[in-house]
Order: sequence, then structure tokens, then C-alpha cells
Amino acid sequence: MALIEWTEDLNTGIQVIDNQHQRIVQYINKLHHAQQNQSQDEVGEVLNELVDYTMSHFAFEESLMEESGYPYINAHKKVHQLFVKRVADYQQRFNMNEDIAEELINTLRAWLINHIKNDDQDYAGDVLTSMQTVSKRSDGWLKRSLQRFFG
Ligand SMILES: [Fe+2]
Ligand SMILES: [Fe+2]
Repeated sequence: MALIEWTEDLNTGIQVIDNQHQRIVQYINKLHHAQQNQSQDEVGEVLNELVDYTMSHFAFEESLMEESGYPYINAHKKVHQLFVKRVADYQQRFNMNEDIAEELINTLRAWLINHIKNDDQDYAGDVLTSMQTVSKRSDGWLKRSLQRFFG
């Protein structure tokens, strides 16, 4: 069974963001699976993918907030940065052959769910409004940003 099931209350209402969040949840589930298989190689691989993808997501999210003029963008960016630092510490410990998988998964799960439900939910209204008012410009902008951050 998956560790995290996607529930309605995780939706921000911004499709592109919800898709990315779902993907991150999938990575955490994959990590959990790898840990249960007791495969450190697999854990390492998924961990790298998850970090990569999450960094792109953060950058994309920050550009959306900036575009919409969300007033708390700096506080939100700080939270992202702290998270990246925290995960980098885990990566370092993992590379020193410490078995951190379980602790990491618990941290990821708690942090992510909390961040999506509170911090991300908080900018969603502003971003949605700005996407609706400038929808034409926004479409092209969205495509360009997605390409820029996710390749
Ligand atoms: Fe965020
Ligand atoms: Fe997010």
C-alpha cells in the first residue's frame, strides 16, 4: 500500500501545481517502497530524483508567486530554502552510509503535507486570480516557465 494517498484537501486548485505535488508524493511513496525492500541503492536513486524534482518545483512555484505579486513570497522562499538544507543534510548522512531512510520519509511526509496544506494553499488564491486576469499572457508564460524549470 502507498504510504501517502492523495486526498482532496491537498489540492490547491492550480492544476499545474497539483500535478507537481502529486508527483512529489509519488516519489515519497517510491522512497518508502525502496526502504521496505531494504535496497540502499534504490533509496539513493529515488532520493536524488526527489531532490531534483522538488528543487525544480520550488523554483517554478516561486516564479508563479512572483508573477502574481504574492506578498509573502520571501517568507515562502525561506521555508523552501530551509527544507532544501534539511534534505541536503540527510543526503550527506546517507552518503556516509547512515541508514536514514525511515527518518527521512517521516520528515518528508510530515513536512510536505503541512507545507502544501498551509503555505502553498496560502498563495493559491493570489496565483489563481492573477492567472485568470491575465490568462492569455499567462498561458505562454506558464509554458515557458515549465520548460525553463523542468526542461
Ligand atoms: Fe511551497
Ligand atoms: Fe509546493
